Amino acid sequence: MLHFKTIIEPFRIKSVEAVKFTHREDRVKALAEAGYNLFRLHAEDVLIDLLTDSGTGAMSAAQWGAIMQGDESYAGSRSFYRFRDVVQDLTGYRHIIPTHQGRAAERILFHSVLEEGDVVPNNNHFDTTRANVEVEEAEARDLVIPEGRVPSEIHPFKGNMDLAALERTLERDGGRVPLVMVTVTNNTGGGQPVSLENLRGVRKLCDRYRKPFFLDACRFAENAYFIKTREEGQAGRTPKEIAREMFSLADGCTMSAKKDGLANIGGFLALNDDAWAERCRNLLILTEGFPTYGGLAGYDLEAVARGLEEVVEEPYLRYRIRSTEYLHERLVAAGVPVIQPAGGHAVYIDARALLAHVPPLQYPGIALANALYVEAGIRSVEIGTVMFGRQPDGTEKAPAMDLVRLAIPRRVYTQSHIDYVADRLRGYRITEGPAVLRHFTALFEPLPA
Ligand SMILES: Cc1ncc(COP(=O)(O)O)c(C=O)c1O
Repeated sequence: MLHFKTIIEPFRIKSVEAVKFTHREDRVKALAEAGYNLFRLHAEDVLIDLLTDSGTGAMSAAQWGAIMQGDESYAGSRSFYRFRDVVQDLTGYRHIIPTHQGRAAERILFHSVLEEGDVVPNNNHFDTTRANVEVEEAEARDLVIPEGRVPSEIHPFKGNMDLAALERTLERDGGRVPLVMVTVTNNTGGGQPVSLENLRGVRKLCDRYRKPFFLDACRFAENAYFIKTREEGQAGRTPKEIAREMFSLADGCTMSAKKDGLANIGGFLALNDDAWAERCRNLLILTEGFPTYGGLAGYDLEAVARGLEEVVEEPYLRYRIRSTEYLHERLVAAGVPVIQPAGGHAVYIDARALLAHVPPLQYPGIALANALYVEAGIRSVEIGTVMFGRQPDGTEKAPAMDLVRLAIPRRVYTQSHIDYVADRLRGYRITEGPAVLRHFTALFEPLPA
């Protein structure tokens, strides 16, 4: 195999979509009209949209081709069986329940198995996961390793579960724990991976305390690639083999196919337990649809099935992880405080460190994300006090971090788009200026890359 320094996008572009160039004053106006909430912008007023990597990826020609094969039968469609076979081949789980996206899988699982006062341990709950636990009057308990809470700390598997803390929870509150979850990769903690060794440790504890273990598997393929490249003894295995082992260590998973399903919509709940599966299917019929389509069209099931095959291909994952790392490297070089090391799907700027003068309850993440939009037309998202600060009693408390996430859609932007983002986060140098009172007359230019 040939090795080049530059990792090129492992695809050619067959179909393109124009982006709209706006002026700063247009963006100031659009943001004010949106109530300074980037979610409320019209997407066409955004130049580079890094709001999320969820459902925003580009599908392959093979996926679009598969869409034409969609069988739209209400019950027992051919597309469901193809989808089921692909998911089963990957995960090994007995029951495969399609849902329209990840949070539907979460809601169906938690509503079916949680009771008031229960505790769900996780490395870090994603916001929809937390909300779906809390709506059942249960506690979403985050037990990521201490390194996972410190943005500047470097650790190869910063998403790992703190096994000692999990054991304490199972020892003290075991009677209230219906299941243990681990999120791969850990989105809320910076898109950081979880090692196989850690998953094995969670499995062992779950066996000892007789608890089912579920993965929040949204980014399972990115996690598998990190294991391949960072965990001892894993380099010779394919990402698919590693992913299969990850799934085999758990009893089930919730999945948003909008991430590592490489699809624009879709998800599933997969599990081994027959009784739980029956309860979940009954609820699915009530709100999502018949168990062979679960709120999706037959053509969506085809797109997800093909996406799950493509996502574990090594050239894709190498490019995917490297392009995120590339943006991360450029921001580090520019002195921007970012979560270390680079995550799989996103780069996270430490807004609390960058805007140290803005107290958490004045939302430094919102201030930074809005400035990025006004100055550069880049849309990002705050993951901090606005997302997590509101307490069940209505008060506000700053969470551990105030981050701004730049999430990279899959197969959508080229290196020059990413260079633009990095360029806009650089400082300036003075090209001409007098020795005194230079701020009146100096000329500036952006620092070179
Ligand atoms: C870790 C994690 N879990 C669950 C979800 C929810 O998935 P969906 O947006 O498809 O409902 C997301 C979405 O971003 C996520 O990142």
